[in-house]
Amino acid sequence: YGVRLKLGWHGYLRRDPSALLHLEPGRQDPYPLYEQVRARGRVSTTPLGNLITVDHEVCNQVLRSRDFVAAEDNNDDHQLSLLDMNPPDHTRLRRLVAPDFTAKRVTRFTPQIEQVLAQLIKKVPRDRPFDLVSEVAAPLPIAVITELLGIPDANAEEFAHHGQEFGSALGGIQSLSHARRLAATRKRLAEIFTEVFELRRREPSDDVIGRIVAEDSPVRPDELVPLCTLLLIAGFETTVNLIGNTVLALLSNPDQWQLLTDDPDLADKAIEEGLRYDSPVQRTGRLATTDTELAGRPVKAGEWILTAIGGANRDPRVFTEPDRFDIGRDNADDHLSFSGGIHYCLGAALARLEAGIALRTIATEFPDLQLAGDRRRRPGSLIRGMQYFPVQAPKLR
Ligand code: HEM
Repeated sequence: YGVRLKLGWHGYLRRDPSALLHLEPGRQDPYPLYEQVRARGRVSTTPLGNLITVDHEVCNQVLRSRDFVAAEDNNDDHQLSLLDMNPPDHTRLRRLVAPDFTAKRVTRFTPQIEQVLAQLIKKVPRDRPFDLVSEVAAPLPIAVITELLGIPDANAEEFAHHGQEFGSALGGIQSLSHARRLAATRKRLAEIFTEVFELRRREPSDDVIGRIVAEDSPVRPDELVPLCTLLLIAGFETTVNLIGNTVLALLSNPDQWQLLTDDPDLADKAIEEGLRYDSPVQRTGRLATTDTELAGRPVKAGEWILTAIGGANRDPRVFTEPDRFDIGRDNADDHLSFSGGIHYCLGAALARLEAGIALRTIATEFPDLQLAGDRRRRPGSLIRGMQYFPVQAPKLR
């Protein structure tokens, strides 16, 4: 079918040694599996012969070390840009887009985030359950990244549709018809981006796209679409789950929800604990470039190590009572949910801003929010989040 879409960030699913995680119990609740891995030692070998770690210190070391690199994918069509790249190419691209994503720069989106949320909240029914994901958590990051990438209003809806379709591949390809739809989607997204590139070449602007297509831009023409696609998917597929997972953890721990509704300014702390407790990206991986050692265990050049972020975030050596969701925790931000080292999440500040405002708004508008029926998780186990998350807000404030 001419579709060799990667089955996850860095092609992890292709190499993923922890097959257990893909089975239904692992998808519903991976945390007991991480404890099985922890019991085997700080670094252990999987049945497929790869290395795996749920140890916070080892994960951190691997992600920051120059002895371990991201796996490059030579198939230009499907590379995920920065994530798949290593210096010096990685540095060349990252430097160019980074200024738009600093904590200071992203605050320019605050009014827009508040406005989008106000509109979404207004539409939510007060007399029956609604899906928190499709009604609130998903449309917000979509609106923000569409604006950030400067997609014209006329294309915004179609762009959102294709972006969601494309992002769904992160959860794995479900069927041949899914694969065919993805190929068409990828083509259409590339067309929309190409139109935006032409527009920005005609009317230069000092934003991400303006800069990457400028005459003196160091980005090669064939790198443009993959870079924008990464920004799009990373913006679409992660923040939605951070909002959903944190609201679920709060509603499942009513004392914590009460703390937040009493003081909605705790929203940022709750988001940080949400990141730690139930990370939207559960793992990543690196390739050893040289013979080295990890936690006393020899590692050979060419060995692949899976860094299970979701497990590292529950490491009892770093977090007391790691399985407890506690928005008052003072070191929640030691989590590795945004990875570390040169691939540290470019969108971390934006994700924190969006999710923080969203949670503050939800806690203020719906202090009586309740779980309302059966939820459905996303397919796949790399990205952790809810696909369908019914809640109900009984009282109007
Ligand atoms: C990289 C998580 C939101 C853009 C990463 C990585 C993680 C991550 C774990 C690194 C993977 C690795 O080390 O192999 C998250 C989470 C988010 C989030 C949990 C939300 C809760 C965003 C947003 C954007 C974004 C909103 C942009 C709009 C990126 C980019 C990279 C990245 C471009 C690649 C950076 C590089 O390789 O240099 N993210 N992300 N992310 N993220 Fe995010």
